[in-house]
Amino acid sequence: MIKFEVYDKKIDDIDAEIELIVIVDKNFNHRWIQDKNILEKCGFKGKEDEAIFLPMVNRVYTSCKTLEPEDIRLSVSNAFKTIKNTTFKTIKMGLYTQNCPPTNTRALAEGILLGNYIFDKYKTEKNPLSIELVKISTEDYSDKIYTKDSIIKAIEEALVIADATNKAKDIVNTPPFDMTPEKLASYAKNMAKKLKNIECFIGDEEFLKAENMGAFLAVARASSNPAKLIHLTYKPKKSNKKFVFVGKGLTYDSGGLSLKPSEYMVTMKSDKSGASAALHIIKAASELNLPYEIHAIIGAAENMIGGNAYKPDDILKARNGKTIEVRNTDAEGRLVLADCLDYAQDLKPDYLIDMATLTGACVVALGEYTIGVMGHNEKLKNSILKISDKSGELCGTLPFNRYLKKLLKSDIADMSNISSSRYGGAITAGLFLDNFIRDEYKDKWLHLDIAGPAFVEKNWGYNQAGASGAGVRLCLYWLKEFVYKENSIHQEEL
Ligand code: BES
Ligand code: ZN
Ligand code: ZN
Repeated sequence: MIKFEVYDKKIDDIDAEIELIVIVDKNFNHRWIQDKNILEKCGFKGKEDEAIFLPMVNRVYTSCKTLEPEDIRLSVSNAFKTIKNTTFKTIKMGLYTQNCPPTNTRALAEGILLGNYIFDKYKTEKNPLSIELVKISTEDYSDKIYTKDSIIKAIEEALVIADATNKAKDIVNTPPFDMTPEKLASYAKNMAKKLKNIECFIGDEEFLKAENMGAFLAVARASSNPAKLIHLTYKPKKSNKKFVFVGKGLTYDSGGLSLKPSEYMVTMKSDKSGASAALHIIKAASELNLPYEIHAIIGAAENMIGGNAYKPDDILKARNGKTIEVRNTDAEGRLVLADCLDYAQDLKPDYLIDMATLTGACVVALGEYTIGVMGHNEKLKNSILKISDKSGELCGTLPFNRYLKKLLKSDIADMSNISSSRYGGAITAGLFLDNFIRDEYKDKWLHLDIAGPAFVEKNWGYNQAGASGAGVRLCLYWLKEFVYKENSIHQEEL
């Protein structure tokens, strides 16, 4: 991983092979820009996503519309793209803080760390990044003066958050033969061993039976890789809130007997993205020493075909006693989540958040880049939407309504696992889950459909083609906001 060093020195006094300069809002007259004429000759205009490496002066220029955190992330990641094939090992740059030193410095480091993610585990020929060290000067674009310590702290946080995000991508990008429910469970166990205040419990099929998780078990039945329930607990010394994250962990979704057409089946290794997000949120929470009790509940299974597969027409009994008519075995995530959500409520959470690559309909509704946010509590939904700006993950709400809820009715069971209409599929999936949320938890629950951004087959922004670690940064920034609120601290002052 790239290392960072912070210097209480002017940029010019720092020794590095190359320098990175951000051109903010086309301001070519800033004192840091020494190559205005060359840039002009090269046709560099400072437009969105423009970045250029000038080898004769060893400087990289990158444009940035504003000094909002997300613009900074994008801008620095664009800068690094221009030096991808060079052999430089050190690069230096100043700060671009505006009013928010920690937020903007974190964004800067995150942009570098996320933008340089590579998944090359299965490549014979690797092409690693040459840059090993980023030297940051406390000299600021707007002439403000900061202490080295506050900048170091922000970078340390960025390292934790970006590492959690990148590791979440690794798990999602790993092919299904190498990330079965069992392997995911061992990964969680090993991860927990290395972290402070984390316990890991793995429930096998016997456990699922004892827990009456009939819906979860049915989904997993045809696979030769048995299901696992993974339960991680992070308990700091003192805590006054309990958060439970539930993740859909389909290590493969073939669709089951309602088999997916071939072109829709590829990428379904990404159906474990919610699980991977939950796992790495708790990892970062421990590394950041967050002062809350946090649980991650993961339903890990494979949705496969076989002689003993669960079938359309089957009726399943969920952990909460409700019966479900299966009309499509490809709507499996909600079945696994139904049982996991019921288990999660036994923990008496103050906040219950599920993350799942639940529906293609969510991708149709919001596009590939946006997380669908659903729930009953408007304030809670808004708190997540607000964090979008800081974290850089896009969110949009999809509203529940009583008419869509009725579409899940079944003639012969308590409900059907699919809607009777082809419209509003992301919301009806959310409303299906609502059947498993007890009255006292309705207002504590949020459902995040990450089917779009979790896995995109083209590069976008600072994300590489493949997994993006969707949900990790969003939830971590959201959790951090509770800490700020409790201490009545404005993030800016930290
Ligand atoms: N894992 C899929 C949803 C999905 C689709 C995730 C595309 C990522 C990208 C889920 O299990 C599924 O197959 N859902 C069905 C539901 C339908 C049968 C009601 C879908 O979206 O088509
Ligand atoms: Zn499916
Ligand atoms: Zn699925």
